Amino acid sequence: MALLIKGGEIVTGSSRYVADIWCEGETITQIGSDLTPPDGAEVIDARGKFIFPGFIDPHTHIYLPFMGTFAKDNYTTGTQAAIVGGTTTIFDMCIPSRAEEPLAGFHTWQAQAEGRACCDYSFHMGVTKFDENSEAQLREIVAAGVQSFKVFLAYKGAFGIEDPELWNALALARDLGVITTAHCENETLVAELQKKLVAEGKTGPEWHHDSRPPRIEAEGVHHLTTFAEAVGAPVYIVHLSCAEALEEAIRARLRGVRVRVETLIQYLVLDKSYAELPDFEGAKYVMSPPLRDRSNQDVLWNALRQGIVDTVGTDHAPFDFLSQKPMGRDDFTKIPNGIPSLEDRIALLYTHGVVTERLDLQTFVNIASTNAAKIFNLFPRKGTIQPGSDADLVVFDPDFSGTLSVKTQTSAVDYNAFEGWPIRGRAEVVTLRGEVAARDGRFVGTPGRGQFLRRPTP
Ligand code: URP
Ligand code: ZN
Ligand code: ZN
Repeated sequence: MALLIKGGEIVTGSSRYVADIWCEGETITQIGSDLTPPDGAEVIDARGKFIFPGFIDPHTHIYLPFMGTFAKDNYTTGTQAAIVGGTTTIFDMCIPSRAEEPLAGFHTWQAQAEGRACCDYSFHMGVTKFDENSEAQLREIVAAGVQSFKVFLAYKGAFGIEDPELWNALALARDLGVITTAHCENETLVAELQKKLVAEGKTGPEWHHDSRPPRIEAEGVHHLTTFAEAVGAPVYIVHLSCAEALEEAIRARLRGVRVRVETLIQYLVLDKSYAELPDFEGAKYVMSPPLRDRSNQDVLWNALRQGIVDTVGTDHAPFDFLSQKPMGRDDFTKIPNGIPSLEDRIALLYTHGVVTERLDLQTFVNIASTNAAKIFNLFPRKGTIQPGSDADLVVFDPDFSGTLSVKTQTSAVDYNAFEGWPIRGRAEVVTLRGEVAARDGRFVGTPGRGQFLRRPTP
């Protein structure tokens, strides 16, 4: 494979300039002006377009057994949706049940992905229990290249871990030099509030928010960071949704705790009124932590601009509106949690972040690609454009205008949470390790070419 991308404006997390990019095999080999392609090379005219490094989603659930069902995408549909939207690498959550051993879970997720994945992928290894068998298995999984853990302080009785297990997981992570990602909500408080609301007859999706209010998320962040501080381990807070939780993260940072923060595109552009839509429509917008009051959006945008929040992910967890969300029609606690957005993250972030001038282009690239590559040990193979990096490139048309819709999406789920929303700009051509994998919103790559990314020890 030989590919020349001519005349585009290259935008990385730290630079912006017009040049040609020459890729041989899977790698960027040269960047310069007026590069001449040899016979047979594929040439893409990128004049008037931005060239971004392939985007990285630090938090997805492609294979997800959860709340009595399975998320709708598989590694074919989910990763094709990623590529079409400009995301060339995902970090999928590998989450064995508490009844399963970590290695068995890891093998299950690998088997789901291998031969199906159409973008590159890594896992965050879920530590859903910590007993006498856990340490040896987790060491083996880390040695296989999975350099991050995932813990849940929520979902009592399912994935959630007890405090002694949290201590042990963080201590092992510290010893192995890996970072622990964490879902932060106080599971006891959530369970008690859920019981109270349902007993009061408050069973619709609009009550989901009140069962997990901002203070309960903030308590989770406080809890995690207190443990991280005591153990001396770095942590990464996933899907932070609100000002109260962010303040706890900042307080911890000021105490010297190594804390990274992820928010989601959903929290930046949706608010809790969506989960209050009538006729059960609100169920499309039930996720945890819940969509928040609109006032939190400015806080999160400001925090992204100022480098206080590090990444924007999706927590892509697709459940059909017609056949799966109704599992909780009479009881919001049983609605499968998740708002799919893997395919639309970049278009939404560009439209609502860059076009509105909340974000400059460098910040956009950093929060959607480079920072995740750095935090999770893939940089500079991923997350930038330079000789030696993987040829994962997004030729982005800033002048494109379109509309998001379930009718045109690649993801297998039966709705689009942003139905009819206008977008500006889109990933026109997407390359994965030198091969054109998407063009004009359609997957054109080689199915199953996505690679497991064995991450080096930090
Ligand atoms: O609602 C959510 N976030 N669903 C996916 C599971 C999780 O908590 O990340
Ligand atoms: Zn979560
Ligand atoms: Zn998640």
